[in-house]
Amino acid sequence: MSYLSKYYTMAENELNLRRNKNTEIQREHIEKAERTIPQIREMRKQLAAGGARLSVILLGSGSARQAVKEISVENIEIKRKIKQLLTDNGFDENYLDPVFSCEKCRDTGIYEGKRCSCFMSDVQRFQCDDLNKASGMNLYSFDTFDISLYPDKRSGGDSDTPRQAMEKVFRYCVNFSKDFHLPCNGILMSGKTGLGKTHLSLAIGSEVIKKGYSVIYGSAPDLLRKVEKEHFNKEEETDTAPVLQDCDLLILDDLGAEFDSKFNQAFLYNLINTRMNKGNPAIISTNYTLSEIKERYGERIMSRLLTMKNLPFYGNDIRVRKNMLKK
Ligand SMILES: Nc1ncnc2c1ncn2[C@@H]1O[C@H](COP(=O)(O)OP(=O)(O)O)[C@@H](O)[C@H]1O
Ligand SMILES: [Mg+2]
Ligand SMILES: [Zn+2]
Repeated sequence: MSYLSKYYTMAENELNLRRNKNTEIQREHIEKAERTIPQIREMRKQLAAGGARLSVILLGSGSARQAVKEISVENIEIKRKIKQLLTDNGFDENYLDPVFSCEKCRDTGIYEGKRCSCFMSDVQRFQCDDLNKASGMNLYSFDTFDISLYPDKRSGGDSDTPRQAMEKVFRYCVNFSKDFHLPCNGILMSGKTGLGKTHLSLAIGSEVIKKGYSVIYGSAPDLLRKVEKEHFNKEEETDTAPVLQDCDLLILDDLGAEFDSKFNQAFLYNLINTRMNKGNPAIISTNYTLSEIKERYGERIMSRLLTMKNLPFYGNDIRVRKNMLKK
């Protein structure tokens, strides 16, 4: 993973803030306990003095074993008494202990010699925030999705009316975001323009973000333009490709609207394939029909896309419909 140092620095700062905040919380705990149980202040002083004496003995040489032992026993006894006093007064027995946001790494950011997952998810979150800045993801929700905008008349030989079909699509999307977990299978949304593909994929995105997962939203032309620029111009500031690979949920909008080039085709195949092998889902939406996708992208990409949940969208352009209702 080659995240940029900028996001590492942001995560380090975040970690420092958490540590400061937790030190402050512990200080408040101590103050409160000492106010409620004044003996505790004296006992904590004794503990500190014992600790100081211990370090003097340990620094000096000679037959200090016995002294060390005595002080240790003394300290253990004081600690036990403090715990007793705390619980007698309705506090938790660990009320004076250091507070950690992450028990795994105890807010050091390092676990078993590696960056802790709490640190890495901060790095990822900062990078996603950066990439999503322009998408307005928070403006789209399931609540504002209006199913009555789809016609309730059967057309052609379809067994469902567009509204019935879209009700199923809607329910699938709601459940997908509600049960979101990793690994899972992605979604391919297809259908003409203005049928709500972007709306529903962003609604899923904002729900999944709320659960604490990292989500990237972007249109295929935008994201691929970024990736290509970074690929050919090493000085670019961001590092989009690895985030597209590693984020928990990738929402790739408007597949097929990007420039048709060898580079884009190869990158897309690699992206879709790598994510699928890791079980990282993507929501891909496209105005293309399945046969158009196959024609443009070939068998390899097509066969990968077909393993995703296929959601065809039905109806007539919602923008037109909404404008008609306004008049
Ligand atoms: N079912 C719906 N209820 C309310 N607004 C909708 C619905 N479907 C689409 N829209 C709105 O119509 C516009 C076009 O929808 P969009 O999701 O961009 O379509 P698509 O991505 O399929 O082209 C957007 O402003 C969107 O919020
Ligand atoms: Mg769209
Ligand atoms: Zn941690």
